[in-house]
Amino acid sequence: RFVEILGVPIEAGAGHPGALMGPAALRTAGLVRALRDLGHEVRDLGDLTPPHEGEGADRLAEITAWSRVLADRSYSMMRAGGVPVFLGGDHSLSMGSVTGVARHCRDTGTPLFVLWLDAHGDFNTPNTSPSGNMHGMPVALLCGEDGFDGVFPPEQRATVDPAHVHLFGIRSLDPGERRLLRARGVDVVDMRLIDEHGVGVHMRRIIERVKAAGGHLHVSLDVDFLDPSIAPAVGTAVLGGATYREAHLIMEMLHDAGVVGSLDVVELNPFLDERGKSALLLVDLVASLFGRRIIDPAVTQSQIG
Ligand code: ARG
Ligand code: MN
Ligand code: MN
Ligand code: MN
Repeated sequence: RFVEILGVPIEAGAGHPGALMGPAALRTAGLVRALRDLGHEVRDLGDLTPPHEGEGADRLAEITAWSRVLADRSYSMMRAGGVPVFLGGDHSLSMGSVTGVARHCRDTGTPLFVLWLDAHGDFNTPNTSPSGNMHGMPVALLCGEDGFDGVFPPEQRATVDPAHVHLFGIRSLDPGERRLLRARGVDVVDMRLIDEHGVGVHMRRIIERVKAAGGHLHVSLDVDFLDPSIAPAVGTAVLGGATYREAHLIMEMLHDAGVVGSLDVVELNPFLDERGKSALLLVDLVASLFGRRIIDPAVTQSQIG
């Protein structure tokens, strides 16, 4: 496949500085080489340049400026026909990346589904957020919640149907976002469900749904989806996250399904990493998503009948 990589060094949405180094760390960990070794045609577009929004601008103004530039860039990457991969940067970048993807899907009449791999729901609005950090709000903006009026001009705005959003790996929700998620009917696969059924059951359900609709699946991977013991490089670590095995299985199932059309890899804070281990793990997970496997599945399939 044709893969286009764009770094988005934004950290104004997070409570801790450091995520702006994420794209550089993912490149240092060998992301481009890993994808090329799998036979993909890879174009690294470099990093998006931070937009100037004036001296003394607040974080909302800064993220608004990034989001507008990124939504246009994401849309043109989709039109180029490849698989866009956005390297964060904090999770507020998905306001822009997914908006561009949604606009392209609307143009082409393709149903858009979003798989949000995260410890958090990221469904706060400026009215419900206890922290005010915008990386806790992108899903709410994307689903058209109130409170984000100034972010996109109407002609740039493209939303996602909350009934097409699957939050996965969730173990930390604020009271306001929990109420909103229920009210909007968002599918929340929390760690409780994963513990009982395993990730395979819920991934199969989501994949079958996207396939049946002939849809485009956007995957948004937050580092804090993973357990902090295997991925410490994140400012919002929450105990009890996905294991190494669960995370790879998810990526392998997504690859085999062939439904993923765009990807965010966000919240990597290299300042908090331990000798690059989180960045290296993320590169391995992206490689699994793009087809790295232990052995040709045909062999295994024939052996188990
Ligand atoms: N729910 C918390 C908040 O709104 C944490 C959000 C964390 N989000 C993230 N993308 N890491 O501040
Ligand atoms: Mn297309
Ligand atoms: Mn998170
Ligand atoms: Mn997140």
